[in-house]
Amino acid sequence: MVAPLKVGIAGLGTVGADVVRLIEAQGAALAARCGRGIRVVAVTARSKAKKRNLDLRGITWAKSALDLANDANVDCFVELIGGSGDPALSAIDAALQSGKSVVTANKALIAKHGLRLAKSAEAHGGALNFEAAVGAAIPVVKTLREGLAGTEVNRVYGILNGTCNYILTRMEQEGLSFAECLKDAQRLGYAEADPSFDVDGHDTAQKLAILASLAFGTKVAQSAVYVEGISSITPADLRAAEDLGYRVKLLGVAVRTAKGIEQRVHPTMVPKSSSIAQVMGVTNAVTIDGEGFPPITLVGPGAGGAATASAVVADIADVARGIRAKPFGRPVARLRATKKAPMERHEGGYYMRLMARDLAGTAATIATRLAEQKISIESIVQRHAEGVDENGMPRKASQVPVILVTYATHEDAVRRALKAVQHDKVISGRPQLIRIEKN
Ligand SMILES: NC(=O)c1ccc[n+]([C@@H]2O[C@H](COP(=O)([O-])OP(=O)(O)OC[C@H]3O[C@@H](n4cnc5c(N)ncnc54)[C@H](OP(=O)(O)O)[C@@H]3O)[C@@H](O)[C@H]2O)c1
Repeated sequence: MVAPLKVGIAGLGTVGADVVRLIEAQGAALAARCGRGIRVVAVTARSKAKKRNLDLRGITWAKSALDLANDANVDCFVELIGGSGDPALSAIDAALQSGKSVVTANKALIAKHGLRLAKSAEAHGGALNFEAAVGAAIPVVKTLREGLAGTEVNRVYGILNGTCNYILTRMEQEGLSFAECLKDAQRLGYAEADPSFDVDGHDTAQKLAILASLAFGTKVAQSAVYVEGISSITPADLRAAEDLGYRVKLLGVAVRTAKGIEQRVHPTMVPKSSSIAQVMGVTNAVTIDGEGFPPITLVGPGAGGAATASAVVADIADVARGIRAKPFGRPVARLRATKKAPMERHEGGYYMRLMARDLAGTAATIATRLAEQKISIESIVQRHAEGVDENGMPRKASQVPVILVTYATHEDAVRRALKAVQHDKVISGRPQLIRIEKN
């Protein structure tokens, strides 16, 4: 009979507490699947006194995460504290150096220190598993790292932040503003008190950097990700997208191009018929374009205690089975430096919404400036000014929205054309620009 795997868990919050519960509830099934039991032998958190609705009888309370990581009675150290610095980082470092396997759900830490930690895991013989760090219950890390080991991946993209997708879904379905939806998301616990990390795209960027490394065999490079958030999106954009056959989603996209790997996070128009466009609310999804077959889309809960615990426990089960997959799918020495494709050379279609001053010929001026940059227009819509005055009469039009969709072009050409249009003084305010991602 093989001895059970002895697990130490640092962090007993939303995820950690559910991991303890899941291991308890699934004990017999896990033992059958792994050929050995999995036992939580020690835990720690910030406050020992806190009420947690957990049965911790017979489980040692370690003084600190570092003590737990150094505990000789622990085979597998599970880090569920969060944050890219200490105490999580030193504890993981110590656990790996003592030859233990490590499981974590910490995207911030893996995006920043993943490479060095993977090297340490390799050198000392432990595993470093982080399935829950991207898409929680969606097994996308394993899919890229193991399931698609025989496939060349050309593009991986997805909805990786539930807060942003919740906000965009409500804006689209109810015609509400970004600010109104954000307030609701905070009230319902989908958004943090300080939502900027989510809505400005940085959470998505960390997850995308991890996916890009797994997909393309490159070193994780969060600094190579171009990032734009969703706060500038208006209900008018979502209505226009609907009319044009698109939906707007905050996507993280990593794609192999002739100029290198493009990694970008921004609001994106996707065809309404695409799989990714069907993903609503807090749900996450990842689409993988592999060579030789149609795209694979994985959809599921990207957050929450139970969903995240499911991925953490699967990672622990791999350790119990003796699986020591290379953290990024290949030895660290075989990971290539990321050749960053410059965003100015991004190629694709663009949606533009410009507020034309009420001047005859504004659309013609815009069309001329685009033509100068060899940008072809797929469609153009000049709308009547929206809104009514206090008497219910149509508001006197002083600005007319002009909406354009271009055929594939380069980002720098679009920027040059818009600069010229602004210089012509035929529009007011900042133009809205949304990139289009076709299937
Ligand atoms: N929540 C999700 O839906 C989700 C989804 C995917 C990934 N993740 C990742 O999972 C990790 C944990 O997230 P969470 O939502 O469970 O966080 P959480 O609810 O805030 O829990 C954090 C836990 O860490 C403990 N802790 C904080 N500082 C500590 C310290 N100095 N020493 C020891 N323990 C300390 C806290 O102790 P006390 O309980 O005593 O305060 C708490 O138990 C993060 O990396 C997060 O990014 C979370």
